[in-house]
Amino acid sequence: MVEEQLPIQEKGRRAKNESMRVKPQRLTELSLKPVSRVLSGIAELDRVLGGGIVPGSLLLLGGEPGIGKSTLLLQVCNRLVQNGGKVLYVSGEESAEQVRLRAERLGSIMPDLFVLCAVDLDDIIAAVEEIKPEFLVVDSIQTLVSSTLSSAPGSVAQVRECTAELLRLAKNNRLTVFVIGHVTKFGAIAGPKTLEHMVDAVLYFEGEPSLNYRIVRTVKNRYGPTNEIGVFEMSEAGLIEVANPSEFFLSGRRSDVSGSAVVVTLEGSRPMLVEIQALATPTPFPLPQRVATGFDLRRLALLLGILERRASINGGRRDIFLNVAGGLKLTEPAIDLGVIAALASAIRNTPLPADTVMIGEVGLAGEVRSVTRTEARLKEVARLGFKRAVVPLRSPKMNKSNLRVVPVDTIGGALKVLGVKK
Ligand code: TYD
Ligand code: MG
Repeated sequence: MVEEQLPIQEKGRRAKNESMRVKPQRLTELSLKPVSRVLSGIAELDRVLGGGIVPGSLLLLGGEPGIGKSTLLLQVCNRLVQNGGKVLYVSGEESAEQVRLRAERLGSIMPDLFVLCAVDLDDIIAAVEEIKPEFLVVDSIQTLVSSTLSSAPGSVAQVRECTAELLRLAKNNRLTVFVIGHVTKFGAIAGPKTLEHMVDAVLYFEGEPSLNYRIVRTVKNRYGPTNEIGVFEMSEAGLIEVANPSEFFLSGRRSDVSGSAVVVTLEGSRPMLVEIQALATPTPFPLPQRVATGFDLRRLALLLGILERRASINGGRRDIFLNVAGGLKLTEPAIDLGVIAALASAIRNTPLPADTVMIGEVGLAGEVRSVTRTEARLKEVARLGFKRAVVPLRSPKMNKSNLRVVPVDTIGGALKVLGVKK
């Protein structure tokens, strides 16, 4: 339960006269202007947004503290200014000097990048009215306070009221607003989750703090598709785009060891090749361990059960570890077949063919089920130079000059093709 205080009502409901009232319109009578987009200059981000920033929209960028939200938006600011835009960066967390130091480290700074260190919403509104920027960055929403409320900054009421006010500012001035929201460790209270319904687009920053790649994912977008991802690498000079994530995630793969399988996962519209690693080691303990990183543990138990029952490959008294290389978290069922193959390969201690990729969902009967967008996946497989793809039987026919597509209908059949089972 969260206590919420109502804003102080200064005036009663304003009586509107007839001429001020908004009227319903016929959809057919509306004149259409195509949505023009402004490119942020960072291709990965533009793709995630559905082709660029829509002027006048309010975007929310969420993520854990320290993941790189301020860095990314400061880079975007730099680019926007270089392309002739006027940007106001409001920081409630860092001093103007700190922002300048960081901006300089991330690229050359230009005169049309303004910085305001403020937490009071009225100061921000006044600044917007004074310098009339086209883009506003608020870092972060949890530091803002609206004087109409007496609750503390970062509380649900404040965060919501401030966002609503920024939304009004955006729509009235055709101002594009980026709002940063920290995801707090303990529950998402007063975090970006409470704001998702108000804003036009919600992007989340993901990534393992120990690894230096970062993923930006759209979870909501009123102007484009969701679930798109952009991949970045954190470096000395800020975030660098990773244009070919498959290559990035497959780098460092050793194909001559058992338990390594390559799968194709679809993140938004983008197929991505990822390595699945499995390890099976004999254990003296009566209760063997099952450990999964980046993959659902219950799904692992299920796939092990299917492997045992339908292909007679028994995990038995072994500890079994499954890992998605690169620290990604995969949830798509299309990687099931690859997981099965990795597990079988680990249990039998037989390496899988290095040039083969596995695609397919696995059902309880051990059948290999078809997946969405097989063609797009196969295209990426061919692009990365793999020679063979094991796919579900009922997949669309695909002929690629140097990619052999092998359809299978059961996991037994697939494991025979892969040489793990006789
Ligand atoms: P930051 O953008 O401040 O995170 P957030 O705003 O999400 O809290 O980024 C914090 C981390 O990024 C910090 O630990 C240092 C690292 N970093 C780099 O590695 N290179 C850089 O060029 C910058 C600016 C930051
Ligand atoms: Mg920050």
